[in-house]
Amino acid sequence: MTTEIIPTLSSFDDDSLSNAFAALEQQATANAAALSGPEAVEAFRLEWLGRKQGRLNDVSSRWLKAAPPEAKKSLGQRFNALKQHVESLLEAAAGAGPSDAALAAEAIDITLPGTRRLTGAEHPITKTLNEIVSVFAALGYSVGVGPEVETDFYNFESMNFPPGHPARDTQDTLVVAAQERRSQRDRLLLRTHTSPVQMRTMEQQQPPVRIVIPGKVHRNDAADATHSPIFHQVEGLCVDTNITFSDLKGTLDHAMKALFGSSVKTRFFPSFFPFTEPSADVQISCIFCGGKGCRKCKQSGWIELLGCGMVDPAVFAFAQEKQPAYDPKKISGFAFGMGVERIAMMKYGISEIGQFYAGDMRFLGQFA
Ligand code: PHE
Repeated sequence: MTTEIIPTLSSFDDDSLSNAFAALEQQATANAAALSGPEAVEAFRLEWLGRKQGRLNDVSSRWLKAAPPEAKKSLGQRFNALKQHVESLLEAAAGAGPSDAALAAEAIDITLPGTRRLTGAEHPITKTLNEIVSVFAALGYSVGVGPEVETDFYNFESMNFPPGHPARDTQDTLVVAAQERRSQRDRLLLRTHTSPVQMRTMEQQQPPVRIVIPGKVHRNDAADATHSPIFHQVEGLCVDTNITFSDLKGTLDHAMKALFGSSVKTRFFPSFFPFTEPSADVQISCIFCGGKGCRKCKQSGWIELLGCGMVDPAVFAFAQEKQPAYDPKKISGFAFGMGVERIAMMKYGISEIGQFYAGDMRFLGQFA
């Protein structure tokens, strides 16, 4: 703030005095409005009320003294009014706290949208896995689990892949190192399918058995758009007296309709698994084209979805080592296994399996 020299007054009539004081009052008001911070307020005080150089002091010493006697009273009243005005400006500025500018910087804009909290959502694999499980739960199946690090016995031997058998080559996996001192049966590996839990279940429980087993499995498969070395399966096992292939067909036909819609058809093709006999691959009518033929089904109208078959008597023979009730002359059963990723990809129209594992919120958020 620069001290402006108080002009010399040439006439002391009412109009001139009014104008002169109004100008000062306006200046003081404008100065006070621009104040920010205690230092500026102090400077303002000195500028206007300072004993020696303050403007009011100037007014008093120059105007009041120069005024003719008849103007002194009116001038004095105006002087007092101006002084009161300046003092009240000062009081307001000192007590006002932060300036408008400071307030604006801290202000909260209540029209801004709030901070959104992200809602957790089931991962599409978990969601699909739960859906498959609940289809079978509704048929009276219970749910079982088993270890991901499995023994050679449960993963292979008890599922009728004898040591050295070429069928093992179709399910290569990671094997835990430095187990040479263990028998082959006890050596640990990452399970290649959920089928070993069939055996673990039968060892624990006499027939009848109706169980679904969801879980993670590992294979030495090169990753591509539809394959991942780690993926998920849901296994199913049903053992009772007089279980036939028709029961298997009826159960899986119902399950596919429950998962993909009632217009879906199923068909069974001869296949091979060491632990089922006979074995079949199940195809469903293409859910994208309704069976007419499209790119997704390679113009065939059918999509292969899972493996299944009647439990091989050789598997029951291994179960009998712990549970004699699994006598293949008295009981029979079927088993099936499906890939959760594959079903999720079909249900949600996902073409890259890698999307499930990338942790990209833009992808995952769509399943919330
Ligand atoms: N375990 C088999 C696989 O992973 C699937 C399967 C399960 C087939 C049960 C038949 C019966 O390929």
